Amino acid sequence: MGIKVENLSYSYSGNRKGKPALENVSLEIAKGEFVVISGAAGAGKSTLIKHFNGILHPENGRVTVDGLETRTREVRRKVGMLFQHSQNQLFEETVYRELAFGPSNFGIRGEELDKRVHEALSLVHLDAGILDRSPFSLSGGEKRRVALAGILALRPTYLVLDEPTAGLDPESRAKLLGRLQNIHQKRVGIVVVSHNLEEVLPFAQKVISMDEGRIVFTGSPDEYLRAGYSPVPPLARLMKELNKKGADLREDIFTAEEALKELQKLRQEKPERDREKSEKGAAETEAQDNA
Ligand SMILES: Nc1ncnc2c1ncn2[C@@H]1O[C@H](COP(=O)(O)OP(=O)(O)OP(=O)(O)O)[C@@H](O)[C@H]1O
Ligand SMILES: [Mg+2]
Repeated sequence: MGIKVENLSYSYSGNRKGKPALENVSLEIAKGEFVVISGAAGAGKSTLIKHFNGILHPENGRVTVDGLETRTREVRRKVGMLFQHSQNQLFEETVYRELAFGPSNFGIRGEELDKRVHEALSLVHLDAGILDRSPFSLSGGEKRRVALAGILALRPTYLVLDEPTAGLDPESRAKLLGRLQNIHQKRVGIVVVSHNLEEVLPFAQKVISMDEGRIVFTGSPDEYLRAGYSPVPPLARLMKELNKKGADLREDIFTAEEALKELQKLRQEKPERDREKSEKGAAETEAQDNA
């Protein structure tokens, strides 16, 4: 089960003579997995994830979700997708109706619908007071949270997010990532397309790296760093640079806390080095004295 992509190729119509946007892509995303998809601009990341819930259909190859073809309507519910400019996706008169839209399309009514709306709202940490407001009266950050809640109200099995932290301030980024972690703990599979690897790698179980429509790497975050793929997250790069200057630090570092712990080694090592130096110096002086 899971999301299964087999030999997927795709060209945008009108661009058939040019390079395909996806070329022979195969991958599997297990149920409940946290996956990061990385790669340069134009690598094909957005095109790939649009195949996960049937927004795009394969030109060649096959995509299934828990064994279902992506043309199946149930796949739209199973795979929740948050686009790059999700705040522009809102269209209902009130936040309540915005959140009820998805589940009511799938036949959910009455108390169950109400429960879904409140559950989704609490997952994005918004207050019930917001339900009667017009989505258009909200701040950009609130709009994004409402858009995410609208998807969560469908209780997706997989949540796919395209650059979810782009344009957010550092505090909002950290909060969003915390929310994603909470949602993942509820056994929802998370697929995040991100250029900011340092902020998503700590949570990831798998990294898929794309280049020019192909997958060039699949593996754990540790393997990704060891393989030396770019982009290397800044903290790992710092460790690499310090090692070039003679330090002996771990390079599979994702978080500031881990980096701090490694850097403290330098402090501990320094007095030792100084002592060695002064002992060596003393020995040399002694040797000279004896000569
Ligand atoms: N609607 C479209 N029509 C024609 N070509 C497109 C369309 N959308 C994307 N492409 C092309 O397909 C290729 C892959 O684009 P895609 O948007 O999947 O890349 P991406 O990895 O998501 O990039 P970014 O990091 O910039 O979002 C690019 O060459 C792009 O120009
Ligand atoms: Mg994209």
